[in-house]
Amino acid sequence: MVSALQVAIDGPASAGKSTVAKLVAKQFNYIYCDTGAMYRAITYAALQQHMDLTDDIAVAQLAKQTKIIFQPGDPVQRVLIGTQDITEAIRQPEVTNNVSTVAAIAAVREELVRQQREIASHGGIVMDGRDIGTTVLPAAEVKIFLVASAHERAVRRYKENVLKGIDTPLNQLQEEIELRDKKDSTRKVSPLTQASDAQKLDTTSLSIEQVVEKISDVITKKQHELC
Ligand code: CDP
Ligand code: CDP
Repeated sequence: MVSALQVAIDGPASAGKSTVAKLVAKQFNYIYCDTGAMYRAITYAALQQHMDLTDDIAVAQLAKQTKIIFQPGDPVQRVLIGTQDITEAIRQPEVTNNVSTVAAIAAVREELVRQQREIASHGGIVMDGRDIGTTVLPAAEVKIFLVASAHERAVRRYKENVLKGIDTPLNQLQEEIELRDKKDSTRKVSPLTQASDAQKLDTTSLSIEQVVEKISDVITKKQHELC
């Protein structure tokens, strides 16, 4: 029988994690879980309530009370809080520029990691984020650490923005990405770091299809090993 594996995909902002994780999940008929969307959902809810984002206790309380729902949707998985669809709202620059502050709160992480482990408990999952291979699923059978140069990642975000009609200069996007990476890699709790048993994949000059193929090969090989 083919094993239903846990696949952890980590890496810095705009390395291509969610794009390839979604496609890999589809190929293997696995669940896809975008953990970044969970941190974004709590950030969005806190901003909506005009909370002070440095008030750890209040934001953690909000994380405990907020039920984040992932609803299958093609081509985009929908993200809901209760009945409110926040799929597009959580991608707003205000959320993007504040999410690392919320993600640095230990009690927020504790709650979201608990939920993420529950979602992954039956295997057959591709989960992407910053701490999946190191903290959320340390026993994941496949761990990939995706990287790309900061310039290439800014270019990818720039192209994405153009399609949405957002006009942010390329150098500003690169600065924002570098600042978020710095905050994510230097925070005290579960910083962004490559797990010692993760495979590093530099996607700077790879197409989405090439990255998907490489990860799929790793998963298939692992499935055969475990048969
Ligand atoms: O897609 P993008 O790279 O912009 O980021 P994301 O995956 O949506 O994650 C947004 C933010 O959530 C990150 O910059 C981290 O601060 C935080 N995050 C985290 O701390 N741990 C995770 N497992 C996932 C995201
Ligand atoms: O989830 P993460 O922030 O790591 O990145 P993403 O949102 O999946 O990808 C950011 C952008 O880069 C998307 O517009 C992808 O289509 C694009 N991308 C790319 O051009 N080449 C790749 N090898 C991977 C992603």
